[in-house]
Amino acid sequence: MHEGLPEGTLTLLFTDVEGSTDLTTRLGDEAAQRILRSHRQLVQRQVEQFGGQQIKGTGDGSMVAFTSARRAVECAIAIQRAVRTRNEDYPHEAIPVRIGINSGEVIREEGPDGRGDLFGATVTAAARIAAKASGDEILVAETVKGLLGAVKDLQFADRGRFRLKGFADRWHLYQVLWEREGDVSGPVLLRRTPFVGRQSEREQLRRCLEQAVRGQGSLVLLSGEPGVGKSRLAEQVAVEARDQEVLVLSGHCYEMEMLPYAPFVEILDTATRSMDRAALQVALGEGAGEVARMLPSLRKLFPDAPAPLDLPPEQERHYLFSNVLEFLERGGRERPLLLVIEDLHWADDSTLLLLQHLAQRANGMRVLVIGTYRDIELEGHYPLQRALEVLVSQRLAEQISLDCLAPAAVEAMLRALAGRPLPQQLFQLIMSETEGNPFFIEEVFKYLLEEKKLVDDSGQWRAEVIASELDVPEGVRLVIGRRLQRLSEDCHRLLTGAAVIGYNFTFDLLTSVSEMDTNTVLDCMDEAERAHLIVSGEIDSRFIFSHELIRQTLLADVSAARRQRLHLQIAEVMERAQSSAQQEIATDLSYHLSQAGDSADPRKRSRYLLLAGDRALSAAAFEDALRQYEGALSLQPKDDARMHAELRYKRGLALRSLARWEEALEDWWDALAKYEGLRDLEAVGQVSSDAARQLLWGGRYLEALELALRGLSRLGKVVSPHRCLLLGNAGLTLSVAGYYRAGAGMIREAVRLAEELGDDQLLARALVAKAVHHFSYGQTVEQAEAGRRAIELCKATGDLWDLTNALWVTLATADSLDESAALNEELESLAARLGNQGAFFFSSRAMAHRDLMLTGNISAFEEFAKQDVETCRKIGLVGLSQSYAYGGLAHFWLGR
Ligand SMILES: Nc1ncnc2c1ncn2[C@@H]1O[C@H](COP(=O)(O)OP(=O)(O)O)[C@@H](O)[C@H]1O
Ligand SMILES: [Mg+2]
Repeated sequence: MHEGLPEGTLTLLFTDVEGSTDLTTRLGDEAAQRILRSHRQLVQRQVEQFGGQQIKGTGDGSMVAFTSARRAVECAIAIQRAVRTRNEDYPHEAIPVRIGINSGEVIREEGPDGRGDLFGATVTAAARIAAKASGDEILVAETVKGLLGAVKDLQFADRGRFRLKGFADRWHLYQVLWEREGDVSGPVLLRRTPFVGRQSEREQLRRCLEQAVRGQGSLVLLSGEPGVGKSRLAEQVAVEARDQEVLVLSGHCYEMEMLPYAPFVEILDTATRSMDRAALQVALGEGAGEVARMLPSLRKLFPDAPAPLDLPPEQERHYLFSNVLEFLERGGRERPLLLVIEDLHWADDSTLLLLQHLAQRANGMRVLVIGTYRDIELEGHYPLQRALEVLVSQRLAEQISLDCLAPAAVEAMLRALAGRPLPQQLFQLIMSETEGNPFFIEEVFKYLLEEKKLVDDSGQWRAEVIASELDVPEGVRLVIGRRLQRLSEDCHRLLTGAAVIGYNFTFDLLTSVSEMDTNTVLDCMDEAERAHLIVSGEIDSRFIFSHELIRQTLLADVSAARRQRLHLQIAEVMERAQSSAQQEIATDLSYHLSQAGDSADPRKRSRYLLLAGDRALSAAAFEDALRQYEGALSLQPKDDARMHAELRYKRGLALRSLARWEEALEDWWDALAKYEGLRDLEAVGQVSSDAARQLLWGGRYLEALELALRGLSRLGKVVSPHRCLLLGNAGLTLSVAGYYRAGAGMIREAVRLAEELGDDQLLARALVAKAVHHFSYGQTVEQAEAGRRAIELCKATGDLWDLTNALWVTLATADSLDESAALNEELESLAARLGNQGAFFFSSRAMAHRDLMLTGNISAFEEFAKQDVETCRKIGLVGLSQSYAYGGLAHFWLGR
């Protein structure tokens, strides 16, 4: 083996993995072997780089010889750094390594296996020195230090005298301060604290993950105070999940108003970015148009995706949710999913509705959803409170409530932070100040380190630590405040700007807002990163604050006036930067403008609120839309009648979608009157036809008729799509109410107009109206003819909602029982998918008739008649008289 080694003085380096048996118990033999193997490779690479010779390797350690003491120490540092990086990347399998180095005379001999080996007291002592080190440490004998002389870039801490087994004299050992960097004396912060504690919680989450991988997904909620470690625990699970080929996607809720479904938008965005086009297409299936409601950028990827369906709001939202979940489900067939949804205490209503939907479906999906929230902040008005009640009462979520860390975990954490054990006194002090909140611990530790209160100039722990001298500020925010004060003025100012922008921010936006030159901004960002206040995020050069509490502390320190000015500035920069895609930034912009106070132009504010409202409405986020429209209306100068009319029309739509019919009607009538005053016939047509359609969907026939007739009276003989729709809807309502001639005339006109306009979708709708009209009067030949044409047209235009209506109205006129069965099959699956109760109802009638004819089972028909009355009452459909007639008929046949 090592023939190249000369006789005489050598430097020996021993590595030893701390807790390798522990690793086996924890992760199993196979995993432990794999980890140790990759560890050996890591050591081997460094040894080769520094010209060392591996003498022998044990399972979890190795013995290496060097001809140069300096290279041995440098190699040791390189090993520790590489180990640290690996441990940070795989924290659940982190393995601290201790290293001992000794120099002296060695004896070379052939070992029993014929291979060369090294022996002697120097070798034994090196092994014993390694055993004295604790994880992450490099200890060297005094001789090593002596051989190195005064080397500028290597620093040592005197660790005092140690007894080594088998040696009479005590050995003076030194610690190589390999973590020393920059001007900080003593331990240097790890980029990330190695994960500690939380055994039982991790077990529980691991179980949930295993089940999810097997197809039995669930929702787990992690709650606890800020900084207690919710995000970190979720992240820890994510690391383990990735090892099992699980796709991890995370999304955040924010304190400020954001896009509706913000965390899901983030998740969908990351998901679409992480798939190639073909996989994406498979996952989207036919749902691209719907998913794009939530994630409009998808349209750019798939410009040919069908337009989203025109559905009644209740079904619209349901259908959108189903499509989003189906997308995730299909995506999950390739790889199971872990979704992490952060900070649910800030979630909006629409996000929570989607989450509930997801929780209901998760059991059959390969998905684990982890949601985090601060329980102490729930007393307020957060929508999460209500959602939790539902989730808990329906057993849709498992809950894990996190407490602060136990003393043993705190000790481990501090040891990892410091790179060596902390004196008991110091540990006690930090424990009592922070009560074991890990974020607080980190901040206090950083603070003490920065203030040079932990170690003296030689890197030794201060002998006596007195609480009052340490002067730990009470409360985590005060500690952060002190740490912020240490920053340069530029850096502090820049971070304040960043905090006003939000939890994450881009370099470009921040630079424009800061009015500093790029180099200064870069320097400041470096400074902030070094202080662990911000970290660079994963997506498009974004930065995020290391913790929301840091941002909140920065914000608390800004005067209201300055904050408002900053918000205004941010809005202006955003507006200038992105004038082309206004809708996409409308929500952010209106937020900043609204925070800018009176200095922001109210017209501009209401314009962006309107856009934000439109964005929300098109994503079926009705609550958000309503809030935005209301905000806009409250700002709207009364002299702008057109804008006012538009806002009321749209607020009406939002209100109706939330089943607040009376207020919606008030808005629509007002909008109509305003547009009439402006003589804007197009808008009059739009509002009246749209409102009438909504009212019909809601079963409010009289009000629909009233609005439709008003619209028609204003439109005169104009040839327009709106008039066509109005005629069809008004005609249908009149006809069903018994006004045969008036109804028939209007419907005929609607069909003619649609043909004149050459619009197949309009024609299909007019024909559905015609078919229903004939159905109401038992004119089956005409009913069948109009119905069949409508079916064809609806299929051609992709108008699925009207297709369900065309199907049920044609069903009853089928020429054969087989044909009716075929139509019904099509209808049932479509009606279920879209949630069309009415179509279901009619299909059940048709099928009851069919069964009666085939079986002659009158009792079954009587049973159906009873059900029919119930359903009719429940969904408020006309046709109750028929239900009674069915019942009566059954009784007659049964001779009662
Ligand atoms: N179990 C843990 N082991 C090590 N560090 C932790 C642990 N839990 C939390 N931390 C650290 O404490 C800080 C706050 O944790 P975080 O998960 O962000 O808190 P929360 O999400 O509850 O507000 C983070 O820097 C995190 O790395
Ligand atoms: Mg968190």
